[in-house]
Amino acid sequence: MKDVTYRNILTDRDGAIGIITLNRPKVLNALSHELMEELVMALEDFDKEDGIRVIILTGGERAFAAGADIGKMSDETTISIMLKDRFATWDKVRKVKKPVIAAVSGYALGGGCELVMTCDIIIASESAQFGQPEINIGVIPGAGGTQRLTRAVGKYKAMEMILTGRPMTAYEAHQWGLVNKVVPVELLLEEAKSVAREIAKKSPVATKLAKEAVLKTFDGPISEGLEFERKNFYMLFSSEDQKEGMKAFLEKRQPTFSGR
Ligand code: HXC
Repeated sequence: MKDVTYRNILTDRDGAIGIITLNRPKVLNALSHELMEELVMALEDFDKEDGIRVIILTGGERAFAAGADIGKMSDETTISIMLKDRFATWDKVRKVKKPVIAAVSGYALGGGCELVMTCDIIIASESAQFGQPEINIGVIPGAGGTQRLTRAVGKYKAMEMILTGRPMTAYEAHQWGLVNKVVPVELLLEEAKSVAREIAKKSPVATKLAKEAVLKTFDGPISEGLEFERKNFYMLFSSEDQKEGMKAFLEKRQPTFSGR
């Protein structure tokens, strides 16, 4: 299959493995809408390509992704962000039928952590950090964090992470069941590929149906929760705290929240 030229991601193949690398290193792979659209295109292409059996999603050594692009989000209002319906792109990520393995190094924060959690298996390097720091900029997770993190690590740890914004190290994430395996950074991609190769040997149709069946318990009743989270996320764009939180991040200062 002919590859499209992307500006925010890289694609590669290794036998039956399709590899997608997030590639906006200057902003720690912040997830702009353009990046998300390219990601969905690449995922859908690999999902359709017969020779590809498993997809690996990775980022850079310093960051898998440090979240949604705050610079492009700070001026949104509840209505403007709702009308843009950016989450339609995110909905497509979770429709991919082939197994997706996340290979995570460095920061996986906010939307970055949420993107990791849409994957099926998570391999982390020792430097990986997982967190939902949205509360620090006056908002909440909007792409499944309140739902998937809670299912992965349980109510209390999820509450702690979402309410304090504090991230987990790779080893903590492993201990809490968010990560399958932690490896030294230089072995990250190789470990992800080794798991991918093992899966690629199995029946393609059984693999697809197995993933679909697991997601029925995990993702099945999630739609209502995602919808609720999304509405609350949109609603916060009517608050002064969202404006202040994002402005403060961009101006590299501490925010002063008024509660309005
Ligand atoms: C836009 C970002 C960014 C982001 C980092 N950058 N994260 N730009 N959106 N999410 C940019 C910085 O502005 C900076 O640009 C450059 O990347 C390097 O970042 P630094 O902050 O200088 O690096 P460092 O001091 O090492 O700190 C790393 C960091 C910090 C701890 C990860 O960047 C950080 O806190 N980032 C924001 C994390 C966050 O709040 N994520 C949640 C976003 S909201 P310049 O031009 O100055 O070099 C979200 C909601 C999801 O994800 C909703 C669903 C989509």
